[in-house]
Amino acid sequence: MSENEYFIYVVDREGKEHKIPALEGWRIMEIIRDNDLDIKAECGGCCSCATCHVYIAPEWLEKLYPPRDDEMDMLDDAFEVADNSRLSCQLIFTPELNGIKVTLAPGTET
Ligand code: FES
Repeated sequence: MSENEYFIYVVDREGKEHKIPALEGWRIMEIIRDNDLDIKAECGGCCSCATCHVYIAPEWLEKLYPPRDDEMDMLDDAFEVADNSRLSCQLIFTPELNGIKVTLAPGTET
């Protein structure tokens, strides 16, 4: 399977869904940013800003590895955190996540 066959769905803060190509080994945050969707991701993926906060569609939650302590700590600083909140810079895209759906959280706009 070529990497071009992978994709993710991103719902923007206006509720519009975007289907964008994904690359194996990239962070979900990088995939969102490099497809010109508005995500601040201020720290560039160092897990020190929480401006890459997304909500994971419930059916995908179990497919993700659990957050590490530093991700949990940083989520404490995010806006409107929910049970399905994750930092998209801490999620590495793998083929198993092909088609995952995430929603950009408030406070992540540039
Ligand atoms: S980009 Fe800063 S915590 Fe994810």
